Amino acid sequence: MKNIIVIGSMSIDLVVSASKRPGKGETVLGDDFFTTPGGKGANQAVAASRLGEQVHMVGRIGEDDFGKEIYENLKNNNVIVSGVEPVTHLPSGTAHITLSEQDNSIIVVPSANYEVTPTFVQKHLESLSEGDIVLLQQEIPSETVEFVIDYCSKNGLVSILNPAPYREISDSIIEKVDYLTPNETESDAMFKGDLDDALSAYPMKLIVTLGENGAVYHNGHEKVQVDGFIRDVKDTTGAGDTFNGAFAVALQKEYNLEKALAFANLAASHSVTGMGAQSGMPTLEDIKGEWDV
Ligand code: RIB
Repeated sequence: MKNIIVIGSMSIDLVVSASKRPGKGETVLGDDFFTTPGGKGANQAVAASRLGEQVHMVGRIGEDDFGKEIYENLKNNNVIVSGVEPVTHLPSGTAHITLSEQDNSIIVVPSANYEVTPTFVQKHLESLSEGDIVLLQQEIPSETVEFVIDYCSKNGLVSILNPAPYREISDSIIEKVDYLTPNETESDAMFKGDLDDALSAYPMKLIVTLGENGAVYHNGHEKVQVDGFIRDVKDTTGAGDTFNGAFAVALQKEYNLEKALAFANLAASHSVTGMGAQSGMPTLEDIKGEWDV
């Protein structure tokens, strides 16, 4: 059985909803405020675990109340937390989220997440076996992402990089990674040109997510669009993370790419029906009417 390992960020999300997003120098009144576990890495680990797979989380938290909450939440979602270690000199990561006009804007303060260094992750990588699946995002240092992808390509591990939030990635990383899963905005920034050209340049590797329109890739002969699902949207935060966690589960189940993306689209569509990044993430039970589990 292949392992799924998420190497990445864990945060507490501080979420405010408002009918209007403030402009520069402006103050507006909000409608609601709540805090909830988030961070792209932790979200992806929880998404994969809810879908019934054994998932290991590797990352760092502060020795503070947020750190305790992050840790307990992972355990409550059956994520294996032996790779989660505290740092003493930094607080836990936080994300400051504004929900407005059916979408979100987020400022992430990585704090302890920037202590997910190559040295820290190396011991965890060394415990993995060929074929294990490693899921990464970009709320940890870029040198760690590069180190992990290089390690995976040299040791027969399957790597998935969700390049969110966007930052520049070297061509060699794009060559070495097995799957790259930007959304449309990240893909535009990364390939600075035509989506179709980018897809055909990286067949069976580049998967661009399109929200409720699903996801698209190139199979070596033609572009393939895998349809999404329309739901009543409460909160889109964490939909991309649910897609990535579910995609890792689908690879673990050895689905072909088209089926894997259909599974990931289905899980992501459920996630937007709950408030906060994780509350709408489905279990296998939740999707059983729509997927032959
Ligand atoms: O992808 C959603 C996540 O991005 C939120 O949970 C927040 O923590 C930010 O990192």
